[in-house]
Amino acid sequence: MKTISTFQRLKDSNEKIAMLTAYDYSTAQVLDKAEIDGILVGDSLAMVALGYENTYNITIDEMLIFIKAVSRGAKNSFIIGDMPFMSYNLTVEQGLENAGKMIKAGANAVKLEGCNEHILTLIRRCTESGIPVLGHLGFTPQLMNTLGGHKIQGKTSDKIEIILESAKKLEQAGCFGVVLELMPADSAKYITENLKIPTIGIGAGKYCSGQIVVTDDIMGKFTDFTPKFIKKYANLHDTVLNGIQEYKNEVKSERFPTEKESFELDEKEKAKLSEL
Ligand code: KIV
Repeated sequence: MKTISTFQRLKDSNEKIAMLTAYDYSTAQVLDKAEIDGILVGDSLAMVALGYENTYNITIDEMLIFIKAVSRGAKNSFIIGDMPFMSYNLTVEQGLENAGKMIKAGANAVKLEGCNEHILTLIRRCTESGIPVLGHLGFTPQLMNTLGGHKIQGKTSDKIEIILESAKKLEQAGCFGVVLELMPADSAKYITENLKIPTIGIGAGKYCSGQIVVTDDIMGKFTDFTPKFIKKYANLHDTVLNGIQEYKNEVKSERFPTEKESFELDEKEKAKLSEL
C-alpha cells in the first residue's frame, strides 16, 4: 500500500515517481496492476471524460463520483483527488469541508493549485486534520485567465525564484509534494534541487522527482488536442475505432453473433416450438 512516505522515500533514494490520471474503475484497475505510484483523479476529466472545453465547470459533486469509481478499482495505489475550481477558493472552511468529502469518497490526499495566504492556511488546516495535500505550481489551469493563457512558466531567473519561493511555502505549510507544470527543464531542476519534498513534473522535463501525465493522452485515446510534452505509448483511438467498425460490419453482414455467442434451446423445446 502506497502512502505519502512512499513519495518521500522514492525522492530520497533517487528513484523516479511514476504517476498517471484515472477517472474510472477499469482504468484504475490497470494502473493498480502496473503498480503506478500515485493516481490523480484530475479535474482534466472535465475535458477528457465529460467533453467540457476547460476545467472550470466541473463541480465537487461530479468529482466525487469519479473518485469513488477509481477507489473501487485501485486497491494499492495512492489516490489523489483534484479539488475543482471554486471548491476551495471561497473560505478555508469551504476548502476543508470539500477536501474531507474527497477523502470520504476514497481519495488518500487532495491537490490544490496555486500559493497565496488563503491556500497556505488551507494546506495547514488540511494536514492538521489528516488530509495530505499535493501542491501545484507553474502553469495552473484553474488560473489560466489570470496567467494570460496557456503559457510556459518560469522562463527567467526572476520567475524561477518566485516559483521556488512559493514551492518552499507549500513545503513549509505541509504539502507532501508539488506538481510543476509547463516550464523549462532547467527551471524545474533548480526548483527540485532546492526542495526537500518531491516535485512531480508535467511538461517540466526530466529532472523532477517524478512525472505525471493524462493517461488518455499517452494512450492515444483522447485526441482533441495533444500537448508537445506527450509521448504516445499506444493508439487506443484507432484500435477502438477499428474494432467498432469491424463489429458494425459483422452485424450488418450477419457474421455476428454466431452459434458460439448464442444460447441453445434444448431439442424437445425446439420441436414443441416448431409445432406452435
Ligand atoms: O487535472 C489533471 O489531470 C492535472 C495534471 C497535473 C495531470 O492536474
